[in-house]
Amino acid sequence: MTGTLAPGDAGIAEAARLLSAGELVAFPTETVYGLGGDARSDRAVARIYEAKGRPSFNPLIVHLPDLVAVEKIAHVGPKARMLAQAFWPGPLTLVLPVRERAGLSPLVTAGLPTVAVRIPAHPLAQRLLRAFGGPLAAPSANPSGRVSPTEAAHVLEGLTGRIAAVLDGGPCAVGLESTIVLADPQPVLLRPGGVPVEALEAALGEPLATGGDAGKPTSPGQLASHYAPDAALRLDATEARPGEVLVGFGPVTGALSLSETGDLVEAAARLFQLLREADRLAGPGGRIAFAPVPETGLGRAINDRLRRAAAPRGVQPATSASHPRGPVGETAKFPR
Ligand code: TXA
Ligand code: MG
Repeated sequence: MTGTLAPGDAGIAEAARLLSAGELVAFPTETVYGLGGDARSDRAVARIYEAKGRPSFNPLIVHLPDLVAVEKIAHVGPKARMLAQAFWPGPLTLVLPVRERAGLSPLVTAGLPTVAVRIPAHPLAQRLLRAFGGPLAAPSANPSGRVSPTEAAHVLEGLTGRIAAVLDGGPCAVGLESTIVLADPQPVLLRPGGVPVEALEAALGEPLATGGDAGKPTSPGQLASHYAPDAALRLDATEARPGEVLVGFGPVTGALSLSETGDLVEAAARLFQLLREADRLAGPGGRIAFAPVPETGLGRAINDRLRRAAAPRGVQPATSASHPRGPVGETAKFPR
């Protein structure tokens, strides 16, 4: 059965022990809960894919406590270093050339010459990484294709019985997955997320390209239909149609609201929680509508997730910031 571990020394020690034994432990980060496993162990990484029901050619993010640990497994180029200095620890993932003797399971990188790395800021994630003493592969701790978890209870809803434990750190502050960037030689945005693009561009002093090749999603998160609730979703709604649960934003009021004051930080933090709540309120065969959210700052990542949640299920993306050299061609329907 899946245990819940309290966020003290004993819970962290137990989580680290389980991970060292090749078990899976979900843990809080400032973005969403991660489904952690030893990134050096083929068996642990294979179990991550199995627990999520995720297609195995999608590479995972490797979590480390600091830049020294990152440099042991990857080459940090000049622009990557600028971003690392500005945004780590924090909700940024950098795609870096992997070192030859990095010691990672090839399942983590899905055979790519690069590895996605993140240094999370959440104090519990930091303490767990240091107690474990190695790289943790961690996708979001939800079944593939479903809404990402921002509380320990969400993790249990989707994965109970499939993982050893969840370390309970309360709700996640950012609420959206990390921004993924390929920094060198030319910076490319691979996924909008917790660090706004404007902030990245300011730190680099140059604009970010968005990854081309919309037909080649590199992960479930890049598929058009992802983050999917059970209910059908309508976007840019200014009022509820009969039978719809409206999630408002700013002046648009509904049964629920992303942020009554129109605050994008609050809206990001509440997004996945409200998708779940609206899904429950709508009931079987129900319908959800979302108020428009501006396409600036975190609004870009919020709209990205909303468009994926609203997309017809099991189809190719209409737009996608996918990695031009990423693994190709996920066309299958995802288990929902
Ligand atoms: O906030 C987050 O990033 C969360 C928390 C738990 O850290 N993690 C997360 O992981 O969202 P996941 O596995 O759901 O997202 C992995 C993303 C995918 O979009 C995948 O394509 C990209 O990372 N990725 C991983 N390795 C890559 C690589 N070598 N090149 C390009 N993209 C890569
Ligand atoms: Mg995910």
